Amino acid sequence: MIQEIIEKYNKPVPRYTSYPPANFFNSDYTSEDYLQAVDASNEEQPETISFYIHIPFCRRLCFYCGCNSYAMGKPEMVEAYLQALEKEMDLIIPRLKKNRKIAQIHYGGGTPTCIPAARIKQLNDHLLSAFDTIEKPEIAIECHPGYMDENYWKELIDAGFSRFSIGIQDFNEDVLRIANRKPPMIPIENIFSMLKAAGKSINMDFIYGLPHQTAESFLQSMKKAVELRPDRLVTFSYAHIPFINKLQLKLEEAGLPTNREKEEMYLQAKQYLISQGYHTIGMDHFVLDTDELYSALSEKKLHRNFQGYCTRRTTGQVYAFGVSGISQLNAAYAQNTKNIEEYISETNAGRLTIRKGYALSKEQQLTREVITSLMCNCTLNWKELADHLHITVDELKAATAYDPQIMKQFSTDGLIHLEDDYLEMLPDATPFVRTVAASLDKLLLHSNKQFSNPV
Ligand SMILES: C[S@@+](CC[C@H](N)C(=O)[O-])C[C@H]1O[C@@H](n2cnc3c(N)ncnc32)[C@H](O)[C@@H]1O
Ligand code: SF4
Repeated sequence: MIQEIIEKYNKPVPRYTSYPPANFFNSDYTSEDYLQAVDASNEEQPETISFYIHIPFCRRLCFYCGCNSYAMGKPEMVEAYLQALEKEMDLIIPRLKKNRKIAQIHYGGGTPTCIPAARIKQLNDHLLSAFDTIEKPEIAIECHPGYMDENYWKELIDAGFSRFSIGIQDFNEDVLRIANRKPPMIPIENIFSMLKAAGKSINMDFIYGLPHQTAESFLQSMKKAVELRPDRLVTFSYAHIPFINKLQLKLEEAGLPTNREKEEMYLQAKQYLISQGYHTIGMDHFVLDTDELYSALSEKKLHRNFQGYCTRRTTGQVYAFGVSGISQLNAAYAQNTKNIEEYISETNAGRLTIRKGYALSKEQQLTREVITSLMCNCTLNWKELADHLHITVDELKAATAYDPQIMKQFSTDGLIHLEDDYLEMLPDATPFVRTVAASLDKLLLHSNKQFSNPV
């Protein structure tokens, strides 16, 4: 792609991890609004249920962390939090129709595995005893292997999970030490043997761009990972946001790699993973062809929610529990307080703690379908999507800011391949998928919100 075109289109646009983007959520949205949206969600699509449970605590804070995480306080505080979680579940569960099925449960953090496995099983049982599940639901948990002994893994395996997402970050212990992170407590090979023997799906998280990492050292980590053949592997680009997380300043002191070095880490890792039979999903996910995400991508049925990529099969309306959790219903988003004390005291008093949210109009719900489909699959088949939504192509286009002249210009500039009612990002132009999505977004026509550049 020529530099002139890159400069023309390298203008701030949303990342579209949701539509509308989270900075459109407003603080006028209340717990009462959310409860009404929960009641209405019973009559909306998808009928299936996704639950998200946020455990904000960590045994020790990694200096690079950009997540919503807190050092573990007193055990009484953690227990009070877990009890509040169950209370919050009990405020929502009775409002959901009993004939709806669970498609997905996701435990994220923070570090869900810093609480006893028996407590996680109790939370799981609490949800699973209230509803049936679809066939093969996706029940996933983010695991920090630094504090999990063999017994802990065995207990989790018996707690009903289907996918384990293991935070490796890097196999190089020097890199982990500088990042204030413990390596796996038991050999990773043993963890894989246990999980594979139990038929579980495995994801591994890595980060590139940390001090002491080089393209060569990160490639070594990829090689070790590939020997184990995880079903999925994610290479996160280290996001340096010291104005939000001051601990990251310690990494600046240790010496961060340059952008050029970082790009080289990504490119070498990507090339290697592809040579070893992995397929890219988005920028940073790599999957084996036996993984459900790969078939969904091939059939252009890939979806995304705040928990990550999923398929149309495992996409439910998301009901989130815990601090900072974001519920994603068909017609609304709602986010809980980020303050743990507030969360515990208000939930114990029988109140939800929604602090902001967004009610989507019918038109915005359609735009969300268009933008999600384009962002996940790098293609947009207007006809197929309109059929799926039981409307006409013209109605679908009218819901968005679609302008045929702008599409023609994208095509002339080498961003997309354009046919009647079909467009596909050209391979070199995939970072600009956000730009094409933004051209369809009516909300941006009158917005002065700030976003980041695509490249
Ligand atoms: C909630 S954490 C994972 C669970 C667990 N706490 C752990 O550390 O293994 C989710 C993932 O976000 C990624 N992550 C955390 N901070 C990041 C940052 N500043 N930039 C990019 N990725 C980050 C890490 O790869 C991490 O595994
Ligand atoms: S990376 Fe995981 S363990 Fe480390 S601070 Fe963040 S959430 Fe906690």
